[in-house]
Order: sequence, then structure tokens, then C-alpha cells
Amino acid sequence: MILRPATADDVPAVTDLEAELFGPDAWPAGSVAEELTGERRTAVVAVDAGVVGYAVTLSSDVVDLQRIGVAATYRRTGLAHRLLAAVSTGGRMLLEVSERNTGARAFYEAEGFTEIGRRRRYYRDGADAVVMERATQ
Ligand SMILES: CC(C)(COP(=O)(O)OP(=O)(O)OC[C@H]1O[C@@H](n2cnc3c(N)ncnc32)[C@H](O)[C@@H]1OP(=O)(O)O)[C@@H](O)C(=O)NCCC(=O)NCCS
Repeated sequence: MILRPATADDVPAVTDLEAELFGPDAWPAGSVAEELTGERRTAVVAVDAGVVGYAVTLSSDVVDLQRIGVAATYRRTGLAHRLLAAVSTGGRMLLEVSERNTGARAFYEAEGFTEIGRRRRYYRDGADAVVMERATQ
């Protein structure tokens, strides 16, 4: 398993993984291309036989975690922990996660994020977004 910066060549594999992980909320290929290679983005992929995980941030005055995902068969091996560390700057980081995504919320809590607010009915299934923050480390 290696972690390396994402490139335009990773767009098809990450688009496939997006569809697997996020279904109707998955980014289409155009959005994946923007997120992996766009301005102010930091994107890292985990590669085994192919791409099995990825993480993307968008940096302004704070760093937003746009996405983190790991293929189902690679979970609970510390891979998301490594991906998050690879895109972290040590500064304040924010993210939004569905209130119904208990696995991801448990992961973020384990990584030191705390809830600072909610966006009501933010997702297409009617779920709230939980806004989480990790202060400067
Ligand atoms: C959330 C996600 C990225 C976690 O990836 P992962 O590689 O399994 O996470 P790690 O192995 O690094 O987990 C580190 C710690 O986080 C916590 N954790 C991670 N997943 C958890 C889960 N499903 N339930 C409870 N705790 C969890 C645990 O404390 C874990 O340590 P442990 O395995 O020693 O108990 C992964 O489940 C995923 O891709 N989910 C689908 C996509 C998604 O919802 N992404 C987030 C929204 S953008």
C-alpha cells in the first residue's frame, strides 16, 4: 500500500470508488477531476492493486475536508487515519457529515473532531449535516 498525491490519471478509478461509496450522492467524473487537480485542493490516493482510498481538502483561511473514503474491504486497518494525516496541515479543519453516517462520525470523533453545528435537511435523503471541527493541532 502506498499513499501518493492524486493526479488526473486517477480520475476514472476515484470516480468508480465514489459511486461505490456514495451512490446517488457520488461526484460525477467532472467533479472528481476538479477535486483531485483543482486550485487550493490537496488530494491523496492510497494504491494497492488499484486505488482503494482517497482524501481531498480545500484550503482557504481554514481547511475543509471535502471527502475521505476507503474501499469496504480495506476498512478498519488505519488507512483513513493515514489518508487524513497526509492531507492535514496541523491547522484548523472543518467538515460536514450526514447525521446518519455513524461509521464516519465515529471515525471523525476518533480523529479529534467535535460537533460545532448542524445544517438542517442538508442531504437529499433529508438528513441533517453535522458540522465538525478540529482545532489547530
Ligand atoms: C469513514 C471511513 C473513511 C473510515 O475509514 P477506515 O479506513 O475504516 O478508518 P480507520 O481504519 O483509519 O479508523 C480509525 C479509527 O476510527 C474509528 N472508526 C473508523 N470506522 C469506524 C466505524 N465504522 N465504526 C466505529 N468506529 C470507526 C475507530 O476508532 C478506528 O480505530 P480502530 O479500527 O482501531 O477501532 C470509511 O468507513 C469509509 O470510507 N466510509 C464510506 C465513505 C464515507 O462515509 N466517508 C466519509 C464522508 S466524506
